[in-house]
Amino acid sequence: MERKLSKRSLTLKPSPIQELSHLAQRCNAINLAEGFPDFPAPSELKDAAIAAIRADFNQYRHVQGLCDYLAQTMKLNHGLDVDPVKNIAICCGQSEAFAATILSVVDEGDEVLLLDPAYETYDACITMAGGIPVYVALNPPHWTLEIEELMAAFTPRTKAIVLNSPHNPTGKVFSRNELMVIAEMCCRMDCLAITDEVYEHITFDSEHITLASLPGMLERTIITSSMSKTYSVTGWRVGWAVAPFEIASSIRNIHEYMERRDYIVDLLNAIGFKVHFKPQGAVFVFAELPQTCAISDVEYVSELIKVAGVAAVPGCGFFHAKGKSSKQDCSQSNVGPFHSLESVGSCETSCTTKDYRNSYIRFAYCKSKATLLAAAEKLHKYNEKLGLHMM
Ligand SMILES: Cc1ncc(COP(=O)(O)O)c(C=O)c1O
Repeated sequence: MERKLSKRSLTLKPSPIQELSHLAQRCNAINLAEGFPDFPAPSELKDAAIAAIRADFNQYRHVQGLCDYLAQTMKLNHGLDVDPVKNIAICCGQSEAFAATILSVVDEGDEVLLLDPAYETYDACITMAGGIPVYVALNPPHWTLEIEELMAAFTPRTKAIVLNSPHNPTGKVFSRNELMVIAEMCCRMDCLAITDEVYEHITFDSEHITLASLPGMLERTIITSSMSKTYSVTGWRVGWAVAPFEIASSIRNIHEYMERRDYIVDLLNAIGFKVHFKPQGAVFVFAELPQTCAISDVEYVSELIKVAGVAAVPGCGFFHAKGKSSKQDCSQSNVGPFHSLESVGSCETSCTTKDYRNSYIRFAYCKSKATLLAAAEKLHKYNEKLGLHMM
């Protein structure tokens, strides 16, 4: 089966920390491997969560309250003016905020500077986006950042530097002087800074300074952080990115598209479609008609539009190779996604011969959740009317 994996996924290694943690769980060992707190979350936080669940605060929504709170704390703690609507994207933990940030800003061949040692997920995210991680050593025993080494690592291909302070795994808190040098280099080389500040409130005898507060940095810094460590709720998966408007909205879009993809895949599966392949990008799901469906994709869609009032695209128009078993040739019968509704409706019943190329429907999910839900309800009724069983 390994040969079926994508080249990209073959480059990824399992997280050693998580593997150790699973081993620790199996052996009933005391787990000092994974950085999750084993003390309770603050009771105010738990009470608020319980009250929200009791009030059926369960559906998709823009989390304005959290954005407002974050904007206030940015002002209070760091003197930063952040617009709660334009500059903040709420994500599934810092991990997703970081991954979405990388996907938003890193192109194939872009170099991203990392300080070594580094938290394990950065490298994989950058590599998956086609970027090149470039390491600059923090030198033991005090994990000193050598200014010359840092400066030498910047090239015209450097897109961003990742700064994690307070730092995992060393516990180093970067000093104002070190941050000044990083900021100066970012401005000089016109680079972005992506910060991971999940430990911002866990400092002992040093002050945490956010890089974004240094001159010229607010407009080129993406702060990623989360509730995980500060509130001992690593399982809640609440994180955020604070970024210049265009980047924040791109991060939000990627996050929302993933949510929408999951939403429509669940809806389609629940009403009898088969989604064997979960989309990895773009805004479409290519869903297989229920096995009990005796009609072709073209017939299904043309009736769907007329009877149920939902438009989708029959899959056959996207296939080009002609298989031996195929009785229908969509290119000749003048049906396909790019022809008019009338021509779609005029498809002959020769389409009924089942071939996998006549079994897919393409749905676009770049729509509001309300629209997706309304469409799913109509599809559900239509499938029931056609007598398509839930599989
Ligand atoms: C430096 C650092 N960043 C991010 C994370 C993960 O944060 P989250 O739970 O918000 O995804 C961890 C978890 O150990 C971490 O050590």
